[in-house]
Amino acid sequence: MRTLVIGSGGREHAIVRALVMSDSRPEVWAFPGNPGMFEYAQKAPLSDSLDGSAVADFCHEYSIDLVVIGPEAPLAAGIADVLRLKEIPVFGPSQAAARLESSKWYAKRFMQRYGIPTAQWASFSADDADQAREYIEQHPLPIVLKVDGLAAGKGVVVATSHQEALGALERMFGGAYGQAGNRVVIEEFLQGEEASVFAICDGNDYVLLAPAQDHKRLYDGDRGPNTGGMGAYAPAPLLRPELLRTIEERIVVPTLQGMISENAPFVGCLYVGLMIADGKPYVVEYNVRFGDPETQSVLEVFRGDFARLLYSVARGRLERNAIQTVAEGYSCTVVLASKGYPGAIETGFPITGIEQAQQYARIYHAGTALDEHGRLITAGGRVLNVTSHAATLAAAIEQCYRAVAAIRFEGMYYRSDIGARALRRLQLLEDGP
Ligand code: AMP
Ligand code: GLY
Repeated sequence: MRTLVIGSGGREHAIVRALVMSDSRPEVWAFPGNPGMFEYAQKAPLSDSLDGSAVADFCHEYSIDLVVIGPEAPLAAGIADVLRLKEIPVFGPSQAAARLESSKWYAKRFMQRYGIPTAQWASFSADDADQAREYIEQHPLPIVLKVDGLAAGKGVVVATSHQEALGALERMFGGAYGQAGNRVVIEEFLQGEEASVFAICDGNDYVLLAPAQDHKRLYDGDRGPNTGGMGAYAPAPLLRPELLRTIEERIVVPTLQGMISENAPFVGCLYVGLMIADGKPYVVEYNVRFGDPETQSVLEVFRGDFARLLYSVARGRLERNAIQTVAEGYSCTVVLASKGYPGAIETGFPITGIEQAQQYARIYHAGTALDEHGRLITAGGRVLNVTSHAATLAAAIEQCYRAVAAIRFEGMYYRSDIGARALRRLQLLEDGP
């Protein structure tokens, strides 16, 4: 099998590795890729991952059997549709199905149509700014504002005062998020714990991977601004088997059925971002692709032929027997970020200690580059992802931080409490009531 992976982050590094390690031993090309991936994948000679016909030409020339699209932007741009028209199997949804992520307004209306539990909401376009302000002023606090379009995880504001909410509304309608902010969704704040569920879907059928938990806030104790994710672990003990069944019945199945009714069957990884409030699951967001950094941990505990699984889905018939188990042991992932992330950062600092760190964990590249001497340097806000595996969550966390301690670069920042809350939960369960 010959596969192409589109993307360049830690998620795509983990996907590339899982493909390469599959029993079906595919050859893997990546674009744009990163220095970590290119240890076992080849760089595809492309210049723009949003140019569907160039990607299709490459696939024909190199006899690619499977394209896996990592990030949301090419999906929202309809790359999967262009490839499918040319009969190239793709793991990733059509542009129409990608609306679940590319428009929060569409996603909210969709959930309403199909009775899928989510926070109470209203939506306003920039033309209805007065009504939006009035709605905010009468709404209890905290209140959540979201730009309708894609905003790289930065388009959500949880406001604790009406003044803060009105300020956020002005920025959204004022163009701070470009076109994405021409419409906003305003919703009720859900109090609870978040979890991420990944369903691998062939349009009809699906299978869940290990549930995971992301840590979106920048600082320890879930404080500070929202980021693209500072760490994750899997499987998440919060999602006990009964709760997972409820999530399947009330959310995953109705979502897939709903997408069929909308003439946009979902093929790819459906990421359901959940809030568990009073023991009940609510959808906070859909993503139409693997999550980052959860995927690094979810694939670490996966056992089976990942390439065959994705290929079967892309061909329209999910092969369950490509999976041995979705959750062998536990995995923890810590994101090493540049000082200043998610705001302005400096790059170009040398990175050391990866080899020592690899004694304890896998190191995925997210924002790295090679300088003119071939040395690894920082090249982004999210620089490396450290992913461990162990029989217990406690051991996975410990090993992960041992690996982290070996790595150095100027301004390196990371959270020191990834998985800590889950560990307390497990200890409480073990100790009994
Ligand atoms: P989203 O991009 O929609 O996932 O929102 C980003 C983050 O904002 C989520 O991961 C939550 O932490 C928070 N958030 C979004 N919507 C809500 C809500 N209705 N209630 C509480 N927190 C929320
Ligand atoms: N982990 C959150 C995301 O991938 O959007």
